[in-house]
Amino acid sequence: MTDTTSTALGAGPAAPPIEAAARAIHVRKSYGTGDAAVTALDDVTVRIPQSRFTAVMGPSGSGKSTLLHCMAGLDKVNAGQIFIGDVELSRLGDRALTRLRRDKVGFVFQAFNLIPTLTAIENITLPLDIAGRAPDRRWLDDIIDAVGLRDRLGHRPGELSGGQQQRVACARALTGRPEIIFADEPTGNLDSRSGAEVLSLLRDSVHDLGQTVVMVTHDPAAAAYSDQVLFLSDGRVVDRMAGPTAEAVLERLKGFEPAGGSTR
Ligand SMILES: Nc1ncnc2c1ncn2[C@@H]1O[C@H](COP(=O)(O)OP(=O)(O)O)[C@@H](O)[C@H]1O
Ligand SMILES: [Mg+2]
Repeated sequence: MTDTTSTALGAGPAAPPIEAAARAIHVRKSYGTGDAAVTALDDVTVRIPQSRFTAVMGPSGSGKSTLLHCMAGLDKVNAGQIFIGDVELSRLGDRALTRLRRDKVGFVFQAFNLIPTLTAIENITLPLDIAGRAPDRRWLDDIIDAVGLRDRLGHRPGELSGGQQQRVACARALTGRPEIIFADEPTGNLDSRSGAEVLSLLRDSVHDLGQTVVMVTHDPAAAAYSDQVLFLSDGRVVDRMAGPTAEAVLERLKGFEPAGGSTR
């Protein structure tokens, strides 16, 4: 026997392959029935590498939010499989799915979704409080420093700028150390400077803390913060770009049909 087995076991000197934090396999998703049915995802297979920053781009209506919602277990697929780590979501009952979303998935939404009556720090620790988990103080400290909000922790969302609110939302997503964070247009409501702060934070959470992040964006400059871009068109993954630059992404997007040009 040769020692090629050591490669199969991942024990060789070469760097081990990057694990998938999440996968979609031949996923189909439609809304409505009969003539009114809309195919939002049409046989989508994607692999989200661990500890990497993945951006999802494509024209409006191409299925980006649907893909995120299905991968995060917020919405059910019609066919195919979604895995978070090794767990296939369709095998889970409602309670197990709720627990998986709570313990393994973080979300950042365009609209921040903070509780207005709670302070920043209360918003940040809310998911842990609901889960009855004590925050890891050192980790929490690191995150508060990373998001740069130490002097704002006692403020309510209404007393914070949009960028600060979104950084609270990012801290909230990071605090539970989820296996993966999904962010749907997290900079969509922010001016470019605040947007850049949030994007740097997401990128640093990947490169410094090992977090896995998947972010939908329509902004090539935002996508340039990522490690890879997946391009959706008409519910299908049509391209992938590693090490994106804003210029290369913009050039690639020019090849798409104008929004609304779809007949699907
Ligand atoms: N809840 C829904 N009910 C009916 N159709 C929907 C629903 N959500 C999304 N769609 C449709 O599915 C397609 C993909 O939508 P979406 O995933 O939101 O696209 P994107 O995020 O890329 O703009 C669109 O045609 C949209 O109109
Ligand atoms: Mg969307």
